[in-house]
Amino acid sequence: MKGIKFDFSNVFQPNIENGLSEEEINQYSDKIEEIVERILKENPGFLNLPFTRVYIDRVLDLKNWVQSFESVVVLGIGGSALGNQALQVALNPLNYNVLPREIRKTPKIFIIDNVDPDFVASNLDQIDPRTTLFNVISKSGTTAEAMANYLVARGIVECYGLDPKSHFLFTTDPEKGVLKKIAEREGIRTLEIPPHIGGRFSVLTPVGLLSALASGIDIIDLYNGAKDMHKKVTNPNIWENPAALNALIHYLYYQRGYNISVMMAYSNKLYLLADWYRQLWAESLGKKYNLKGDVVNVGQTPIKALGATDQHSQVQLYNEGPYDKIITFLQLENFQRNIIIPKIHEEFSELSYLGGKSLSTLLNAELKATEYALTENNRPNLKVIFPQTNPYNIGQFFFAYEFQTVVMGMLLEINPYDQPGVELGKTVTFALMNRMGYEDVRENVEKQIKNKKQVII
Ligand code: PA5
Repeated sequence: MKGIKFDFSNVFQPNIENGLSEEEINQYSDKIEEIVERILKENPGFLNLPFTRVYIDRVLDLKNWVQSFESVVVLGIGGSALGNQALQVALNPLNYNVLPREIRKTPKIFIIDNVDPDFVASNLDQIDPRTTLFNVISKSGTTAEAMANYLVARGIVECYGLDPKSHFLFTTDPEKGVLKKIAEREGIRTLEIPPHIGGRFSVLTPVGLLSALASGIDIIDLYNGAKDMHKKVTNPNIWENPAALNALIHYLYYQRGYNISVMMAYSNKLYLLADWYRQLWAESLGKKYNLKGDVVNVGQTPIKALGATDQHSQVQLYNEGPYDKIITFLQLENFQRNIIIPKIHEEFSELSYLGGKSLSTLLNAELKATEYALTENNRPNLKVIFPQTNPYNIGQFFFAYEFQTVVMGMLLEINPYDQPGVELGKTVTFALMNRMGYEDVRENVEKQIKNKKQVII
């Protein structure tokens, strides 16, 4: 079978004592059918992406220009950065940026998704502005972090006396926002973030496609993966729909007090998929109000972990701590590089068992061991199995999890597409930075700071 597979065995009885039963799932089969139908009818923006060539073609039009640079720097945050990072790490060598250009062939990629000056400066230290394209990504064009980093980059471009048109590309809403206005005034190229697709659902729009293409990733195969996954996730039969089944499994465990969803990748290349998932699951599902307007304060906390590294950090808690976590492993069957452990010190049994085996055999044995231990301890766990890290499989993963998140939102009866809890922080930042029009907010914030009890030691 081509593509990723989902192994749900270890969330069910008898593998897990008091785990889910097939009957429990069957009781929701009509509900899931209804939810899938509803999603198809509501037709959220991300759903049809794999069937359109518009964004792919628009990005491909820029291929020669973009790949002529020595560096491409993405300036964005949240949904405007996390997908880019996941794509780069999953689909390019982990040392991509330090490879010589003759091997790399395509530009170095930097993704600046914070305003920590040490972080920003250390990225900027590595580029030559004369051979750099800055891809500013912000759907709203108002996010303080992305805009501050745009201004920093713009300052550098101007200092070098370079033409902004030749060094900036804006990925933004096609109608609104300050980036759109600047682009129109100055003739800066733009790529569109479809207005009906929210940041965290936008990885398969120009948001993620441009930097992927810049570094030579096959974006058409990324879409092929998403397209094939579309068939699976829109299947109304719960037992044939991995996204709906995974959402329901998480929902039923959540109802039993499993408030935490851990995604543990046994592959450094797949690790940032867990970062991307964290935002998707947290921001989409952590909600105060349900669709009726009642206060519900729902949400399952997503945690990311890396195997085998976090076996020596987190797994003690997962095995013996509270029964509040459902764990998803990301397994990679075939790694890109192969390292055989040399047969040295064969006289020591503590070392000789390792000699002659590959590191990937060891890593996947460790995954099996963790899976075994968790199952023995009756901790629900499941696995997403990647035969390889290729664009097709990563496209499948993105699409399955976007759909799964919406199904979970519907099971929780909340709106998975908004993020009012993030907006408040954004507004207060404007107020604290003295943005015009936010004087009242600033007054309220100052009042809270002044009146609150202080416990500082
Ligand atoms: O998912 C979301 O909507 C958010 O995480 C946004 O992507 C993030 O806040 C950045 O917003 P913008 O692209 O408007 O700068």
